[in-house]
Amino acid sequence: MSQAMAPTIAVLSQKGGTGKTTTVRTLADVLRRGGIRTLAIDLDPQGNLSDYFDLPTDVEPTIADVLAGRASVAEAIHQDLVPANLSLAEAELALGGKMGREQTLGRALAKAPADYEAILIDCPPSLGLLTVNALVAADYALITAEAQYFALQGVEQAMEVVELARDSLNPRLTLLGVLLNLADMRTVHSREALASLQERFGERVFATVIRASIAYAESAERARSILDYRPDLGADYAALAAEALARIPGLTDAAGRLASVAQSSPT
Ligand SMILES: Nc1ncnc2c1ncn2[C@@H]1O[C@H](COP(=O)(O)OP(=O)(O)OP(=O)(O)O)[C@@H](O)[C@H]1O
Ligand SMILES: [Mg+2]
Repeated sequence: MSQAMAPTIAVLSQKGGTGKTTTVRTLADVLRRGGIRTLAIDLDPQGNLSDYFDLPTDVEPTIADVLAGRASVAEAIHQDLVPANLSLAEAELALGGKMGREQTLGRALAKAPADYEAILIDCPPSLGLLTVNALVAADYALITAEAQYFALQGVEQAMEVVELARDSLNPRLTLLGVLLNLADMRTVHSREALASLQERFGERVFATVIRASIAYAESAERARSILDYRPDLGADYAALAAEALARIPGLTDAAGRLASVAQSSPT
């Protein structure tokens, strides 16, 4: 069953504000423009991903209905996104008391429409039950870190949860990579953050770092992709997508299609 499923990537971090949602949104944009059918899943009660894609706030059913068993994933897909809102906080609490609570998302996703080629999950800024559900449902974990002094500690804590999920619940889970985000490589602390991650995680750290720019907040506010709003910055995500796909058997070939996405962006 899991083999037939599209490669599923959970984007997580121990801390808030490491650019998870922006990463899911923009990677989905890059993959789709490369012709890769991509499903995005908002697993954060804040519902930021749903906002970023400019979905109506009252759209239903949502991921909360899926976790509660009231809707299938297929029913909860709106414009290739399964949205979330505050009702997900309630659904998480209800989930806590159930048998198989960690496997609920994975079981639901196993029945996702078969025509998707990639699935991206945006996790909330905590390592609780929702993030564990994402890790049990996923084939790959992508850990984001803000380029700050304590980047390494945050990634190590996220990594512990990834290992726990792999050892106890999901042996196929693989670390796709560690992404340094919101980076300003002119500063000592961004350079030190990257060096400490590379020292600890070696080649699992993506060579691509995502540069910090106020343009991200501006583009999010306008619900526009950074690929259109600032193609010069969007190039970071095109490079990240190429690097990530090269690590995913089954999508490696698709990486070639992405080259044209980066090149076709006006600068
Ligand atoms: N590369 C970047 N440079 C500067 N700002 C960024 C960058 N990427 C994202 N941001 C901004 O930083 C804020 C947090 O980003 P985002 O929502 O993607 O992070 P997050 O990890 O999903 O946050 P949360 O933990 O709250 O879910 C947003 O205002 C976003 O627009
Ligand atoms: Mg977020």
